[in-house]
Amino acid sequence: MKRIVALLIVCFMVNLSVTAATTTTTAGYTVQSTKLYGRALQTSPVLKTLPTNTPVQYAVYNRSWSNVYIGSTRYFTPSTNLKAGIPKLSSTERLRLVNKQYGLSKTYRSSQLVPLTIPTVYQKGSERTLMAAEAAHALARLYYDGRKQGHTLYALSAYRSYSTQQSIYTYWVNTRGTTYASLYVARPGHSEHQTGLAVDMTSQRMQMGLAASFDQTPEGKWMLANAHQYGFIVRYPKGKEAITGYNYEPWHLRYVGVNEATTMRQQNWTFEEWWAKR
Ligand code: DAL
Ligand code: ZN
Repeated sequence: MKRIVALLIVCFMVNLSVTAATTTTTAGYTVQSTKLYGRALQTSPVLKTLPTNTPVQYAVYNRSWSNVYIGSTRYFTPSTNLKAGIPKLSSTERLRLVNKQYGLSKTYRSSQLVPLTIPTVYQKGSERTLMAAEAAHALARLYYDGRKQGHTLYALSAYRSYSTQQSIYTYWVNTRGTTYASLYVARPGHSEHQTGLAVDMTSQRMQMGLAASFDQTPEGKWMLANAHQYGFIVRYPKGKEAITGYNYEPWHLRYVGVNEATTMRQQNWTFEEWWAKR
């Protein structure tokens, strides 16, 4: 048994080093349901099928076939299944207003959710570490630029399904009452977290928690000053509680795109005000 395990480890290492040393890959995504073949032949076995909008690393193999890499494994697929870059949100999805008035259906789930690549408080694999690809990509740029300047941020909650939001809301209603809960937690179907475009950010200095004092920390200050450059707005600002319906949350970012986020910041508009005035 030991020998088999040792052999497997050696095979795995050899395999890894071969692909890592010889391949330059492009980040991209699948544009349709994509069959991954064992060889560059439509008649070769289909080893995996990836859904539309799955982020992949790939390299063009010949004129019509590409290699897709999953971990250390190389697969073949027709190049027409793949597109370089990151999936774009439609402007309707990107600018969707979700608040106490406007909600999402119980089953709404963005088709573009991908795992965050930045440090997360929840373990990778938790739905809370997912975000729509365009927003996840923007958040990674924000994270790496912050880190370059000495500010290490962590993502706490990103995507939350309707049922997760329901559990959180019920918990706060039961422990603190409806009035308190309604100032901090959205009712199920009314949370921006369900869009896959919102994320709560924190830091080690905040002990990975969420508190208004985040805006007094170097990490929080940097994030609040720069988030718009990456397309994020601070969705529940101080002084705008009557408009947003929520208490000040310096930790909650919502992705809307760079142009819109910059306008909202310059005009000192909430997302509600932007929608009313655009
Ligand atoms: N904390 C925000 C309002 C939410 O629960 O979506
Ligand atoms: Zn939040």
